[in-house]
Amino acid sequence: GGTDGPPPVADDLILVSNRQPYTHSYEHDDAGERTISVNRPAGGLTAGLDPVMQETDGTWVAWGDGEADADVTDENGEVRMPPESEAYTLKRLWLSEEEVEGYYYGYSNRVLWPLCHGGTMKTEYVERFWQRYQQVNERFAEAVAESASDDPLVWFQDYHFTLAPRAVRDALDDPFIMHFWHITWPGWDTFRACPQGQQLLEGLLGNDLLGFHVERYCENFLDCVDRALEDAFIDEEGGRINYEGHTTTVRAFPLGIDAESIREESAAADASFEADIRSTYDIGADTTMIVGVDRLDYTKGIVERLEALERLWETEPEYQGTVTYVQKASESRSLIPDYQDLQQNVRETIERINDRFGTPDWQPVVYIDEFIPQSELCGLYRYSDVMLVSAVRDGMNLVAKEYVAAQVDDDGVLVLSDQAGAHEELGEHALTINPYDTESFADTIQQALAMAPDERRDRMAALREQVAAHDLYAWMDDVFATARDLREQRDHDGG
Ligand code: G6P
Repeated sequence: GGTDGPPPVADDLILVSNRQPYTHSYEHDDAGERTISVNRPAGGLTAGLDPVMQETDGTWVAWGDGEADADVTDENGEVRMPPESEAYTLKRLWLSEEEVEGYYYGYSNRVLWPLCHGGTMKTEYVERFWQRYQQVNERFAEAVAESASDDPLVWFQDYHFTLAPRAVRDALDDPFIMHFWHITWPGWDTFRACPQGQQLLEGLLGNDLLGFHVERYCENFLDCVDRALEDAFIDEEGGRINYEGHTTTVRAFPLGIDAESIREESAAADASFEADIRSTYDIGADTTMIVGVDRLDYTKGIVERLEALERLWETEPEYQGTVTYVQKASESRSLIPDYQDLQQNVRETIERINDRFGTPDWQPVVYIDEFIPQSELCGLYRYSDVMLVSAVRDGMNLVAKEYVAAQVDDDGVLVLSDQAGAHEELGEHALTINPYDTESFADTIQQALAMAPDERRDRMAALREQVAAHDLYAWMDDVFATARDLREQRDHDGG
């Protein structure tokens, strides 16, 4: 594994995700001319998979949600991407407002997202959400069937498509279907609350290979199948489930990042870059910077983090005027009331803290909600002395890994929640926190700030090695090698 570059993957791969890797939107220049620009959405998933797709000549099927998307595609909704290399086909599905409301804002993000993150009290079982979710899964399955070659390899991403794998299996002649689940899989005691639980499991068992980030999620999944589907035969050791004559292999593949490209971008952000950020956000040259980078989601523990910082400034006044926390946030799923509440809560908490401790020369919390390009983000990581990742529940958390990869001087400290999947790999050398334990969270931030340079370097060097060795390409190698073995075995066994 490591940095030896992308391995060969199937040329005719069909990848399916809800979020597309690129959106097109209109822009008006100074002369009033309308042009079309390309943007990348927030979130680890599409950023991670784009380099994978660029190694293929395959098709990426996704929801076309940009205002100018239709203008650049052919009559099938297809366009070659990315703009620089046109390596693969992006096939956009246009969803109606009702479909978006029911499938995306509804069942995906008001049922499955909270359910999988353990929030049974936040789930909203509305009949039309479920109806539309089923319809849209059918539509994606049809789009896959249309793009499929003779011996197709299909790869679904995430919780938006629990039902489509089974539909594709029914539509095609012996396809190889795999699925990567990017969030947690809950324990049975949580999952059993879901009225559609059986259909969800049956849909996912249409896959040949089902991947999760960590072992515990695999165990939870096997347990849920065991308890919900009477006729399922489970081989726990081998991670195999046989259901209605079809076998699904369940395995952990901890997702990594493109560590080398982050390292390069970070290395390119020189001292003048640091001076720029400090002057842009009015942060003094000697002020220590702590950073947090999140999609604005209630799973990320942002308010819990702000409360720990508030406690630190309250109990250790020497950090007033000397330490600034920079919160980079990207707005997300804003039509959902729980997300609106979170946004308001974050804003109010920041205002309260800034009112309470701020002085004319120093602002405790700097909030950045505008888009910043990857190169600047890498610079922000590099020049921040401490990163706080305080998710209350998170499948993996790639931001933690990005921060590590950007520490080209090996001098940053990662403070990491034990509720994030990334803690399984990084917990040994990061400083561990429980996001709900405000007092000890504050103590841990202090420990990070006070850490001796030697210890900082030792810890960060170990983290960087881990993140580089288990990068995105090592992950791809692992996933595709497993798929190849299973496919060969299938062909050998005669289907
Ligand atoms: C998480 C999910 C992804 C999703 C991303 C951004 O990482 O696992 O599937 O794309 O959040 O959320 P959004 O709803 O904007 O796609």
